[in-house]
Amino acid sequence: DSKGPTICGLPLKYVSLVTLAVQNAALSIVMHQSRVSAPAAQSYSPATAVLLNELLKGAISFVIAFLRVAYASDAGNLGFAGWFFALRRVCQEIFSPDCWKLSIPALLYVVQNSLQFVAVSNLPVATFQVTYQMKILTTAAFSVALLRKRLSSSKWISLFFLAAGVAIVQLQTIGTREVPANTPVGSAHESAPLHIHIMSPLKGFGAVTAACFTSGLAGVYFEMVLKNSKADLWVRNVQLSLFSLPPAIFPLLFQTYHPAHGGIWANLLRNFGGWAWATVSIQVLGGLITAIVIKYSDNILKGFATSLSIVFSFLASVALFGFHITPSFVIGSSVVLVATWMYNQPPGKELVSITSVMHG
Ligand code: C5P
Repeated sequence: DSKGPTICGLPLKYVSLVTLAVQNAALSIVMHQSRVSAPAAQSYSPATAVLLNELLKGAISFVIAFLRVAYASDAGNLGFAGWFFALRRVCQEIFSPDCWKLSIPALLYVVQNSLQFVAVSNLPVATFQVTYQMKILTTAAFSVALLRKRLSSSKWISLFFLAAGVAIVQLQTIGTREVPANTPVGSAHESAPLHIHIMSPLKGFGAVTAACFTSGLAGVYFEMVLKNSKADLWVRNVQLSLFSLPPAIFPLLFQTYHPAHGGIWANLLRNFGGWAWATVSIQVLGGLITAIVIKYSDNILKGFATSLSIVFSFLASVALFGFHITPSFVIGSSVVLVATWMYNQPPGKELVSITSVMHG
């Protein structure tokens, strides 16, 4: 594990996994807040957010890819010709003959990013966060099917513990009264104004389930493309963003545009306030870190790292949204954490850790 690049002496692999866990928790909270803090009529367009995410991520990845080529070819000392050469070179890499391979994960990620908005608008943050961990199972299944990964039986057992933990956490929503998402803690539900955001848990769960499938398939597909070729990670990211543009722009063609609200951009960015921009920024950061994690670790490990983010979002939900701690949430979250720890036991120690968990 000492192989690979480091940041301030720490392996990039672990720094990126921890950063991703914090980013995941922050995203679900900020995204949820951005959706429920305004009545439906004044909310921003998720389709615009998905497009902005791809544009910004693509632009940042392009700059990194360009600077890497420029640095490697010593463009700084060669003047204008050097920079021009680097630009041409990076464009050649981006429009390489195999760039079409990124079209599949690009489409899947756009669908997933859109579903995430539906899910997060219709479920409490902590419930969304925990249910979304089911993507670990779909990711493992796709890793075995597409990447021919072999998982030891103890790793499969940890995966099923993980799924069981997620299911236990979900029990808390059964019998929970459906309440407006932005009802202030302790306020009388009946006296809440009619225009506030109402959540629909069934719709939320449906969206999360579908997002788990696209997440698993897209992640594994991206890993396959990345690890089966020599192309630079940042070039692959630019290709991914470019192929995301058509499916991201498509739903915008069906949006209604009011001349009274200004030009196309003014219409697209209508109601884009601080929460919306914060959501997009955290998503962009997440996309960049996810790419690093997939390169230096793998998708299954990524899933376990993000499952740790439920602890962060749980604590934040209690503090910010008055989320009630239920026994099923505590038991389910604990099972998820134990499963995470169990999955990451080095070979040989696995059986010992399983028996010690089972026998207390
Ligand atoms: O939850 P999951 O890990 O599946 O989410 C991956 C997220 O990271 C998606 O929002 C996707 O758009 C983004 N991503 C990215 N660039 C990559 C891989 C993933 O922006 N190379």
